[in-house]
Amino acid sequence: MAAADIRVRPVKFEFPEDIDVMAVPGNVGGSASMVGFSFTMPYLEPYLIRSMTIAKGHTKDPDLLSDMRAFSKQEGHHFRNHKRMNELVKAKLPDWCAHELSKAEQALNDDYQKFTKNKSLKWNLAYAEGFEAMTFAMAQNSFENPNDNTEQRWKDLYEWHLAEEIEHRNVAYDAYDKIYGGYFYRLFVGLWAQYHFLGFVARFAKIIARGLKEQGHETILTDQKGGGMSLPRQYWRTLSPWYNPSKIVISGEVQDMLTKWDMAVN
Ligand SMILES: [Fe+2]
Ligand SMILES: [Fe+2]
Repeated sequence: MAAADIRVRPVKFEFPEDIDVMAVPGNVGGSASMVGFSFTMPYLEPYLIRSMTIAKGHTKDPDLLSDMRAFSKQEGHHFRNHKRMNELVKAKLPDWCAHELSKAEQALNDDYQKFTKNKSLKWNLAYAEGFEAMTFAMAQNSFENPNDNTEQRWKDLYEWHLAEEIEHRNVAYDAYDKIYGGYFYRLFVGLWAQYHFLGFVARFAKIIARGLKEQGHETILTDQKGGGMSLPRQYWRTLSPWYNPSKIVISGEVQDMLTKWDMAVN
């Protein structure tokens, strides 16, 4: 199989100081989920990059190696932008809230450092694929059912990020499959990874929602979609023994989105 066509788009977003923590105006829960997800990125994505870096020493497959390099570069740009956004957000929330967020960030970072140190590469790659499969499903769902109420800067950040998640959908799967393989191991470690990761998203979201409510924000538009944290229908096929993300074709819509971001860096 040829290497996937994965481009690195080093977009550096200019977030204004007055960026709104209400990523979905009028919807506290949707905003808190979207912002909470962003808070996991500066810890999750460096952990994925560490796993890929170790995995590179376990294969000589040139296509896989090239995919892994592109994957790590994309993830690097993702978490750097989220980190800048998160810092602005933290400064806008009450002090106790920023403090609680820092505590949760520390706990998440500790977990990921421990996984790199103590778990096998097979386990870390299965974790990576558990996360990537879930995000790929969420990303496809978010492009099929766009939430037009999302604030523009948050929308841009997530559209760029999720389009690239779709573009590099095969890499963690291929790394696990070519170096180790094994359906049940991938399935169970992947499910645990999703439980672990989503638990932290919920912890961040809960802190953020409390902070937003204290600042007087309310949910006034209850018919809006939330931050896309529920598992969409595209998720269920990832549990099948025949699931292989390379076989899923990118829609024209997502391709257009990727082209749009190609232009943004040219
Ligand atoms: Fe990413
Ligand atoms: Fe990814």
